[in-house]
Amino acid sequence: MHTERHTVRARLATFAATLGLLAGGGALTAVTAQAAPAPPAAAPTPTAAPAVDNGLARTPQMGFNNWNSTHCRAEFNEAMVKGIADTFVSQGLKDAGYTYVNIDDCWALPQRDASGNLVPDPVRFPNGIKAVADYVHSKGLKFGIYSSAGTKTCDVQGFPGGLGHEQQDAGLWASWGVDYLKYDNCNNTGADAQQRYTAMANALKATGRPILYSICEWGENQPWNWAAKTGNSWRTTGDISDNWSSMIGIAHRNQGLAPYAGPGAWNDPDMLEVGNGGMTDTEYRTHFSLWAQMAAPLLIGSDLRSASPATLAILKNTDVIAVDQDSLGKQGTVVSGSGGLVVMSKPLADGSRSVTLTNETTSARTVSTTVEAIGIGGASSYALKDLWSKQTSTTTGTISASVPAHGTVMYRVTPGAPVPPPAGVNQLSELAWTSAINGWGPVERDRSNGEQATGDGRTLTIGGTTYAKGLGTHAASSITYYLGGGCSTLTTSVGIDDESGGANGSVVFQIYRDATKVADSGRLTGADAPRALTADLSGGLEVRLVVTDSGDGINYDHADWAAPTLTCT
Ligand code: GLA
Repeated sequence: MHTERHTVRARLATFAATLGLLAGGGALTAVTAQAAPAPPAAAPTPTAAPAVDNGLARTPQMGFNNWNSTHCRAEFNEAMVKGIADTFVSQGLKDAGYTYVNIDDCWALPQRDASGNLVPDPVRFPNGIKAVADYVHSKGLKFGIYSSAGTKTCDVQGFPGGLGHEQQDAGLWASWGVDYLKYDNCNNTGADAQQRYTAMANALKATGRPILYSICEWGENQPWNWAAKTGNSWRTTGDISDNWSSMIGIAHRNQGLAPYAGPGAWNDPDMLEVGNGGMTDTEYRTHFSLWAQMAAPLLIGSDLRSASPATLAILKNTDVIAVDQDSLGKQGTVVSGSGGLVVMSKPLADGSRSVTLTNETTSARTVSTTVEAIGIGGASSYALKDLWSKQTSTTTGTISASVPAHGTVMYRVTPGAPVPPPAGVNQLSELAWTSAINGWGPVERDRSNGEQATGDGRTLTIGGTTYAKGLGTHAASSITYYLGGGCSTLTTSVGIDDESGGANGSVVFQIYRDATKVADSGRLTGADAPRALTADLSGGLEVRLVVTDSGDGINYDHADWAAPTLTCT
C-alpha cells in the first residue's frame, strides 16, 4: 500500500535526489506526415486551484520594486520613484509589459497619527504618497505599496504594520490610488497566518478598488495550499540576495511548486536582482530565464535610472517575457537535472513549449533533452528559436546546446504538422501525444504516476483490477492527441489508482473532442470502482483527456486512464 504522505515538504525533500533519474519515454508508433490542418478550438486546460476573484494578475505581475537596490537608504524617495516611472516610459519598459511601480518598506513614519492613520515620511515623500501615485498614473502605469501583517514592518526601525488596522489602512491606500499591496510577515505575534492574510484580503476587497495582493510570508505556512483563494501571488522562500547561490537555491525550491500556480495565483520566488552587480550577465540571463520559465512575477529590483545597456537588454527580452506572460498560465517544470544540467519545460498557449537548458556547473557543458521528454510529440519536425541569440533551427526530436558555466539556453519549440494515428484499433499508450501536461512528474505509459521520474509508477490498478495498458497521470493533467478527423470512438476505464491508498484522492475525468466535452466521469474517489467511458470522436481533429482535482486540491489525485482504446478508420 502506498503510504507516503503527499506533502510538498516530502516532495521537496526528494526533489534533488530525483533529478537525474529521468529517461526517455515509451515507444512511438511510426506514422506518415501530412499537411497541417487548421488548429481546432482549444479545450480548457485545468488549473490547480480557484484564484482570488479580483480579476488581477491573470498573467504574472510585472513592474519594479525599490527594495533590492536601496533597502531603506535615503535614495529611496519621491525623486527615485518618479524617475523609475519616467524610465519605464523612456526606455521602453512600459511597452515591454512592465506596469507596476512599487515602493517597499520605510515609506512611512514610525508612528501613526492621532487618528490612527499611516503617515508618509515627509523627508522621503514631501508631497505624500498620493502625489507619487498620481504621477505614476499620469504615465499610464500603476502604483504599489508595502506593509506587514504584523504589529510592525520588517526594517529594524519598526514602521507600523497592518495587523488590526486592515480596514483603515486599506481604505487609506485606496484613497491614495494604490493598485498593489505587498504584505509582509514580520512581527506577526504568532497569530494565524491565513487569518491575518485573509483579513487584509477582505479589507482590500471592501475598498471596491482593484488592488493586486502580493502575499509575502516567505513560504513559512505552505501558502501554495491556501493562498490562491486569498491573494494573487505568494512568496515561496526567504529573501533573495544578489549572488548566484542565493538565486539558484531559490529557483530549486520554487521549481517543485509548479502545480499550485495558475492565472491570478502565482508562486513568487522574490524580486529580480538583474543589474545589481553581484552576478555576471550570463548569470543574470539564467535568473531572468528561470523566473520567466517559472511564471514568476517579474519585478525589477535594480535602479533603472542608471541601468547599463546589458541590463536593459536582459529585462527587455520580449521573447522571454512572452514565456512568462503566456496566457495558458502554466509554471514550467523540471524534466531532468542530472549533475547540475537542468532542463525545464513550460507549456504555452499556442501548443509550443519553452525549454530552458541550464548549466549550474562551473565549466561549459552540453545540455540535452528531447521533444518527448519536454511533453510534446506527434510531429515529424519541430522549429526551435533560441530566445537569447534569436537564431532558428529545426529538429526531429533532440534538443541540445553547448551552455556556458552558470548559463541558460532557452528555446521556444514549435511542433510542425501533426501526424494522425493509423487506421484500426490503437492503444493510446502506444501513440505519440501532441501535448502532455501533468500535475506531478511526467504522464506515464502503461504505469501509474509515481510523481517523479519516468517509469517510477506501478502496474495500473483501480479498485483491485489491473491493466496492462493505459496512461498514469496526476491531477491537474491534460493529454492531447491529434486525430485529423479520422477516428470514431475512444473507450476507456478511469479511476484513482490504488497506489493513492484507500479512499484518498478525488478527481473528475473528462474527454474533449476539440472544444466539445464528449464524456465526463463525475467525481470519483479512491474508494470507487473503475468507471467506463465512451466518447464519440467522429470528425474531431483532436481528442483531449483532462483530469481535474474536483475542486478540493491535488493531494493523492493519481488518475488512471485504463486501457484507453482509440478506433480510427
Ligand atoms: C522582508 C521582505 C523583503 C523586504 C523587507 C523590507 O525581508 O521579505 O522583500 O520587503 O522585508 O523590510
